[in-house]
Amino acid sequence: MNPPKDAAGCPALRDYDPFEPSHLADPYPLWSKAQEHAPFYAEKAGFWVVTRYADVLQVTKDTKTFSSRESLNFKPVPAELRPRLPHGFPQAYPSLINTDPPEHARIRKIANRTLTPRYVEKMLPSIERVAHRLIDTFVDDRRADIVGRFAVPLPVTIIADFLGVPASDQDTFQRWSDHAFLMANPTLDDETFFACATSMAELNEYLGARIAERREAPRDDLLSRLIHESDDERRLSNEEIISTTAQLLIGGNVTTTDLLGNILLVLLSDLDRLRYAQAHPDRLADIIEEVLRYKSSIRGLFRHTTREVEVGGALIPAGATVWVVFGAANHDSTVFPEPSKFDPERDNLAGHVAFGRGTHFCIGAPLARAEARVALRLLLDRLPNLRLVEGQKMSYPPSPISAGVDELLITWEA
Ligand code: HEM
Repeated sequence: MNPPKDAAGCPALRDYDPFEPSHLADPYPLWSKAQEHAPFYAEKAGFWVVTRYADVLQVTKDTKTFSSRESLNFKPVPAELRPRLPHGFPQAYPSLINTDPPEHARIRKIANRTLTPRYVEKMLPSIERVAHRLIDTFVDDRRADIVGRFAVPLPVTIIADFLGVPASDQDTFQRWSDHAFLMANPTLDDETFFACATSMAELNEYLGARIAERREAPRDDLLSRLIHESDDERRLSNEEIISTTAQLLIGGNVTTTDLLGNILLVLLSDLDRLRYAQAHPDRLADIIEEVLRYKSSIRGLFRHTTREVEVGGALIPAGATVWVVFGAANHDSTVFPEPSKFDPERDNLAGHVAFGRGTHFCIGAPLARAEARVALRLLLDRLPNLRLVEGQKMSYPPSPISAGVDELLITWEA
């Protein structure tokens, strides 16, 4: 194999701006070009970009060199908020996503016991109830923004139910989750950043109060289980329970909204795909896996290098921020032949890295998959002859993380 080319010789990569609107809408041509080259430093964004499947695996595997500590913190906590955020943000430290082994294992072991596939299975009827209830609110309209009316409220209602926090607080959760994702953007202006940081302080205080209530009077919910599992072996402090809960709330929200929107966008933008889904109700799980690969809900996440390291022919210095582009790796043609073809029957369907890989593999994957399966089945059943509204202009958030469409207008017949 030829040695990888240096991206400096490629103008498209030299001037790469991940926040440019046309790139946000369709990042794949550029990512495919990037895969012909070694990982490169994107000057405008201020981070290194790793796109090839093998390189993404190297990064996720080597947690010593590619640390998750501070991986989502692009600016320090504003001085005014430091007393309210003494353990940092967007998620306080230590929690799942911002720790490395062995510390990570201590928290993950407890969290794994709460959000189990069995627990998710038990919750299926309630996911179905919520999905039906939401569809009831617009089924007669024959047209809706399916993101705003369904893909946003479904995950937030489910995760709030799981955690056992009141439905009346859901709008506030939504804002907190949106802000947590928004602040993981190194180019954010100071005012927006401050608003986001304030939301993180509010979220921590809110969860602290709910946890105190559960200590007084435990219930049958995930929050009580997390407290019980933690107290049992005195493994998590109160702050760690707060940060872990915050992460479940944030992680379980925007990501799944984006997946639901992407499922509809992918199926409705080529009606052969929709017909395939209608003809194969037993293959909805495979269709969802292929959507996760084909249009990954998370573009990428971050690591910081603890030493100088070679990745795919590039020498990345110590102290660098590395964008691990899961969405690009899922289109690496050396692993997924004809990556731009949507094919729910491909051999290595399960090989995608949309939920990450290794130590930090998504703890909420069983829940996200369950919600997507229920949602797709009910939408196909209850909204006949689904179509995209023609001529709509789609927009995407300026985020290196989330890759969901802001709004998606669809129509159907009564
Ligand atoms: C389609 C939906 C989802 C996608 C695409 C997704 C994607 C991911 C990815 C790529 C990671 C790896 C992070 C890394 O390597 O740094 C991750 C971790 C995580 N996800 Fe998800 N996620 C989804 C749904 C959920 C849900 C429903 C929850 C919670 C209920 C959740 C909670 C988390 C948490 C807490 C972590 C950190 C795990 C750890 O560091 O050990 N996610 N997710």
